[in-house]
Amino acid sequence: MRVSECPLIPAASIAARVSALGMKLGGDYDGRRPLLLGVLKGASLFLADLARAMPIDLELDFVHARSYAGDRSTGSVALSRAEDMAVRGRDVIVVEDIIDTGRTAGALLERLRELGPASLALCALLDKPSRRVVEIEPDYTGFSIEDHFVVGYGLDYDGLHRNLPAIHVMEP
Ligand code: IMP
Ligand code: MG
Repeated sequence: MRVSECPLIPAASIAARVSALGMKLGGDYDGRRPLLLGVLKGASLFLADLARAMPIDLELDFVHARSYAGDRSTGSVALSRAEDMAVRGRDVIVVEDIIDTGRTAGALLERLRELGPASLALCALLDKPSRRVVEIEPDYTGFSIEDHFVVGYGLDYDGLHRNLPAIHVMEP
């Protein structure tokens, strides 16, 4: 597998979209001091830019969500540091890199709901709706893409390519 030379989504397009998302979220959450909850590791770069595009008071936290069972995502998702997250009564915005089958985000939202947030929203940089297994739709989406495996801007293939400034397709 290798990284496509030409980006699927250039850095400038990402920057413009993230800035628009930040303004939209800033308007929707003005005065509510939302908790942006980034899903490690993939969403870290997106969250860093998104938070700076939101011109309102907000707080940041991170959660690590890992789907179990080798290379199969199963929907049983292990969360680390879920106990530390002060979610009760907060307006929580889960920030994800990509929604693929929807299993990870579905399980994470279900778990977070048990912790009693005032509201819960899902913001994903990328959405692959054609791959969906669990019925879930992001409240805020950066880009909807075809069924490609993509890397860059936080997304990895085997731990690599998160630092690419643009989104690229992995090709055989
Ligand atoms: P889901 O549980 O199938 O929705 O998978 C979500 C997780 O799988 C994402 O948070 C990513 O970490 C990973 N993933 C899914 N598709 C891609 C991709 O195209 N590139 C990199 N990671 C991906
Ligand atoms: Mg992820």
